[in-house]
Amino acid sequence: SEKWVLMVTAQTPTNIAVIKYWGKRDESLILPINDSISVTLDPEHLCTTTTVAVSPRFDQDRMWLNGREISLSGGRYQRCLREIRSRASDVEDEKKGIKIAKKDWENLHVHIASYNNFPTAAGLASSAAGFACLVFSLAKLMNVKEDQGKLSAVARQGSGSACRSLYGGFVKWIMGKHDDGSDSIAVQLADEKHWDDLVIVIAVVSSRQKETSSTSGMRESVETSMLIKHRAKEVVPKRIVDMEEAIKNRDFPSFAHLACADSNQFHAVCLDTCPPIFYMNDTSHRIIGCVEKWNRSEESPQVAYTFDAGPNAVLIARNRKVAASLLQRLLFHFPPSSDTDLSSYVIGDKSILQ
Ligand code: PMV
Repeated sequence: SEKWVLMVTAQTPTNIAVIKYWGKRDESLILPINDSISVTLDPEHLCTTTTVAVSPRFDQDRMWLNGREISLSGGRYQRCLREIRSRASDVEDEKKGIKIAKKDWENLHVHIASYNNFPTAAGLASSAAGFACLVFSLAKLMNVKEDQGKLSAVARQGSGSACRSLYGGFVKWIMGKHDDGSDSIAVQLADEKHWDDLVIVIAVVSSRQKETSSTSGMRESVETSMLIKHRAKEVVPKRIVDMEEAIKNRDFPSFAHLACADSNQFHAVCLDTCPPIFYMNDTSHRIIGCVEKWNRSEESPQVAYTFDAGPNAVLIARNRKVAASLLQRLLFHFPPSSDTDLSSYVIGDKSILQ
């Protein structure tokens, strides 16, 4: 009878933490044990595009990822869908003669088609862009009137790091104090134009899927590591203040020092976990060695490195000139080949962020 379909498409880039989130104090609400700060990449290289559609003809919620149907039964998808549905408002499309009342949303089903413009298996954070895009597009479709901060708290329940992808530029995820997670939200520290000299180069060291998921890795670290307690309580709070200051002043030496130290401490926490978790490999370690040596041979640091829950290196050059030199050095020392296990490079230009 009713033939209409209403659709919304959105695009969301991924983000890379320069002060890491590692450890949850509440696993179901995804509440972290410390604040974190990230930079959102430009959407050209690493982003998710999601189309959400609603129609009275759909008899269940369904989702396709890169063209393949995936199950929506997982708790994280269910929570995001439920949270957005409960915030839906009236929608009217006069041209198409469509009228959806707030209460109708409970009985309407959605179809979701999501594409990553980078290989999902490349071990590059895909859940951050994915859940941010899902929540944002559903919120637009259902005419959710809440601000980005409230939406970030919904995206957080899909994947913690996803809350930071709702903004461009530099973003802070505030851990919050409340048990219900209402104040565990992302805020923008500076927009994408603020520090547009930076260039991000990602060295894809291994395209294999990581062995320990961030969820189980974090759980094991929280349960067994002493270092993670010290980190969350004594180290990160000061680093967050210093990193905000470095970003505000576009102070690259401080930025690089803090980002590298924080990545190294995160991986130290992984080693301090029982049994230990190894996310970086020999190639990752050699890349760190090269960058450290180069930085020490200059008057001040030229490149910052950071590694997430996998061996791929995210390198942040202070400007285009340095990025060109960085690429030359990388290609010389780490030519993409099966020997070094280094397959390719992804270059993002922060000046064209979002
Ligand atoms: O949000 P998750 O579960 O993908 O965890 C992300 C954890 C790190 O990428 C290692 C750090 C971070 O802050 O993004």
